[in-house]
Amino acid sequence: MVALVVHGGAGHWVEAERDAAVAGVRRAAAAGWRILDAGGTALDAVAAAVAALEDDPLFNAGRGAVLNAEGEVELDASIMAGDTLASGGVTCLRRVKNPVLVARRVMETTDCVLLAGAAATAFAREQGFADFDPVTDRRRARWEAERQSAARDDSVPGTVGAVALDAGGRLAAATSTGGRELKRPGRVGDSPVPGAGNYATAQAAVSATGWGEYMLRMATAKAIATRIEGGATPDAAAAAVLAEMQRVFGTPIGVICLDARGAIGVVHGTEGMPHAWRVHGDREVGARFAV
Ligand code: GLY
Repeated sequence: MVALVVHGGAGHWVEAERDAAVAGVRRAAAAGWRILDAGGTALDAVAAAVAALEDDPLFNAGRGAVLNAEGEVELDASIMAGDTLASGGVTCLRRVKNPVLVARRVMETTDCVLLAGAAATAFAREQGFADFDPVTDRRRARWEAERQSAARDDSVPGTVGAVALDAGGRLAAATSTGGRELKRPGRVGDSPVPGAGNYATAQAAVSATGWGEYMLRMATAKAIATRIEGGATPDAAAAAVLAEMQRVFGTPIGVICLDARGAIGVVHGTEGMPHAWRVHGDREVGARFAV
């Protein structure tokens, strides 16, 4: 059994961009699936899927990430291997094309879990990641309009992610984001922090999307993984934690998750969350805007 789920961010997607977002997650799932189908690892699959989303300027991650209060892009990402609990992340990373690939290098070449700011960017250069300006004209124009506007337009969706199960029974999760638009420089969200926006164990893999400050406090991804490990289905585990977050904070989020049998969970309290999935044994494949 191999399985993969990819999401492009919960939040308010304008009608005109929904089809393109579904096409984008479908392409990202195909990139991850090629690896799983060829016998590759869950870790390689989630890295490839998230890198594909980072390359697509429609999504708030990598190229196309939103700008902070100073008009700069600060990128957050992490990746985690369920079989070893190895995890790597970067936060407030600047001028890199694929933060998720830097996060993976943190995991595989250092004794750290999370690198931040200028040191994260220096590490990326050390590892051979070229200088890359992720700011698109569209995001710059939006930033100009938003910072002068009293009423914020909340239509930028946040965060991308992927979870996968490979033929060896290993689970992995990866998550990447530009964070919240107009955020304070140096702000750290949930996505780079294991247990908050991203988590994987031998029995569960989780990637979450939504308001990071709440997920940091709820340890959202870890809470969902713990419920799956306790026997809940991925859908039930995610729904329970989302309901708890809604009750405590009044904030809807979105989640994709997988268990070690290849059962998929996709839950969002928001209007939509473009996502795509593929499960080998059942030959189940799909992509849609909302559950
Ligand atoms: N979930 C993305 C963020 O709040 O940074």
